Amino acid sequence: MTADDAPLRNMLHVVERAYLTASGLVPAPYVSALAATTGEERQVGVLCLDIGAGTTSMATFAQGHLLSNDVVPIGGNHATFDLAQTLSASVYEAERIKKDHVTLASVAGGDQDVIAYVLADEEAGAASSTTKGQARAIVRDRMLRLFGDVASRLERSNVARYAKRIVLTGGASQQAGLSELAADFFARPVRIARIQPVGGLPAQFSSPAFSTAVGLVQVALDPTAGTQWEQGGLEAGGYLQRMGQWLRESF
Ligand SMILES: Nc1ncnc2c1ncn2[C@@H]1O[C@H](COP(=O)(O)OP(=O)(O)OP(=O)(O)O)[C@@H](O)[C@H]1O
Ligand SMILES: [Mg+2]
Repeated sequence: MTADDAPLRNMLHVVERAYLTASGLVPAPYVSALAATTGEERQVGVLCLDIGAGTTSMATFAQGHLLSNDVVPIGGNHATFDLAQTLSASVYEAERIKKDHVTLASVAGGDQDVIAYVLADEEAGAASSTTKGQARAIVRDRMLRLFGDVASRLERSNVARYAKRIVLTGGASQQAGLSELAADFFARPVRIARIQPVGGLPAQFSSPAFSTAVGLVQVALDPTAGTQWEQGGLEAGGYLQRMGQWLRESF
């Protein structure tokens, strides 16, 4: 696994400036997936998508091994910005519309329902309105673009066939109806992560928005977390086994 030197060094400087020492480095997509998926899913084959604010991380597992990870530069904030731009609304108003009024479920209905909001920019303060259908179409387009990028990266990394099911996590995975849209797009079973707060973390950490933090705590408590699997009987033989061994030794 590779990472740019400069951002890593900057991050370690930030930690040191807080009078702390980093005891190790673990990739965010990996730990997020550890918290979001079950050991059984990682055995059978799973793609975990952590849909955050500005990015979506991808981690594919099979036979208990991390096979591949990647990051797509699209997240939930892009949908908010699309709404803000198209409706001439503030980002605050767009975020409210997205969370409170948009559902991507196909049978949701109510497309003609009116959503009132306040205009931004030169007409700041003036009232305007849109419909649920229009708001839904804007968010849906952005999420479909995200899924398209995920699908092409998955194909390029040659691990698409191992992604038997998909688990969505990250704050933006809470978008109503998103799992249904993803299941239609990827033609695979999709579920939203249920995070179990570990190590005395408060109950609020059970939100998918905290999967990376919960996964980090999990690995800090047990550095072997997620690395135990049954030996032998690997579908892809030596390649998977060598890759898993290499990852295990690298962490
Ligand atoms: N209920 C909700 N419905 C839809 N979107 C939501 C909801 N709650 C949070 N979000 C979106 O989740 C995103 C933030 O997710 P998260 O907290 O995982 O981001 P992050 O980890 O800080 O960002 P990144 O991973 O890009 O660095 C925002 O785009 C926000 O609009
Ligand atoms: Mg994140």
